[in-house]
Amino acid sequence: MPQLSGLAIIGSGSAVPPAYLDNAGLSQLVDTSDEWISTRTGIRQRHLAAPEESLCSLAAEAARRALEMAALNAIDLDLIILATSTADDLFGSASKIQAEIGATKAVAFDLTAACSGFVFGMVTAAQYIRTGAYQNVLLIGADILSRWTDWSDRRTCILFGDGAGAIVMQAAESDQFLGFELRSDGSQNDCLTLAFQPQPQPLTQGISVGQGNFQPIQMNGQEVYRFAVKKVPEVIEKALFRASLTVEQVDWLLLHQANQRILDAVAERLGIPEHKVVSNMGNYGNTDAASIPLALDQYVRSGQIQPGDVIAAAGFGAGLSWGSALFRWGR
Ligand code: COA
Repeated sequence: MPQLSGLAIIGSGSAVPPAYLDNAGLSQLVDTSDEWISTRTGIRQRHLAAPEESLCSLAAEAARRALEMAALNAIDLDLIILATSTADDLFGSASKIQAEIGATKAVAFDLTAACSGFVFGMVTAAQYIRTGAYQNVLLIGADILSRWTDWSDRRTCILFGDGAGAIVMQAAESDQFLGFELRSDGSQNDCLTLAFQPQPQPLTQGISVGQGNFQPIQMNGQEVYRFAVKKVPEVIEKALFRASLTVEQVDWLLLHQANQRILDAVAERLGIPEHKVVSNMGNYGNTDAASIPLALDQYVRSGQIQPGDVIAAAGFGAGLSWGSALFRWGR
């Protein structure tokens, strides 16, 4: 087979846990209301994983659906990237998914970049395909943030939900991956954290280690809001410039589903009309690395996103990190 330097995104799939909690239910846990949550965030409900569910099982379900749409067998996969911040195992969960779906030929690893993880993963996968190293790549974005949410903190617990989404990327003659821009700013790391807190544990004379736990999500909501609205349009414009495309040529603005107000503000800054803005957070909340492929899959399966449509995707969040990926849907 001749080396192909282009790539196409040929399948998508998604999965969410069956149980969900709506704003009325949440109002029984913390001092809030459906009105406050829906007007400030656009979120009405979020799906939550039960204790016996795992990130791997959710991710594997999304992966199988993406492979089915792509008409590709798991055995033909060369690489699996799992974008997640909530792996079942800190050593990584991608290999377990590889085994679960039977992708025995594929190498698999985790990638952590919080809510930017899926876009960072897309760009990473694209490099492997462009160099000719791999032909068939499965990229999964999956998170179970409910396990790391402080359910007594009304400033954060209203936002998050659980889910998984996946895409299949394949080497192709005609290149459908049009441009990208990735950024990080660790100086603002404190704005959004899920951090390990070590407690000193003395072992022998002069030697102590830090043992402890990860602390629930901490967030400066206003700072994160300001950051997203300012920085996301910049990376989308940069990717458009690199691809020699204008904003009018974008068919869909596919942002990380954090907050409807952020989506509206970014669309307004870019001059993208409302009907081109992908939004499903009302039903799912912020599902971290899963949110972009979850929304993409829903719009593809409902026939709204059509083959050939130009999609401007962007992720943003903890790190702080943010990035855009510009691509055409389908073969
Ligand atoms: N229900 C009711 N009242 C709430 C509340 C809730 N769930 N959460 C906060 N409040 C209260 C606050 O206590 C505060 O009251 P006070 O003025 O009496 O102190 C008031 O509402 C305003 O709080 P503030 O934090 O300023 O709200 P906000 O307008 O910034 O909205 C967010 C909060 C979280 C919705 C908003 O900052 C946001 O969307 N930020 C981005 C977060 C995000 O997307 N993070 C993930 C990025 S990947």
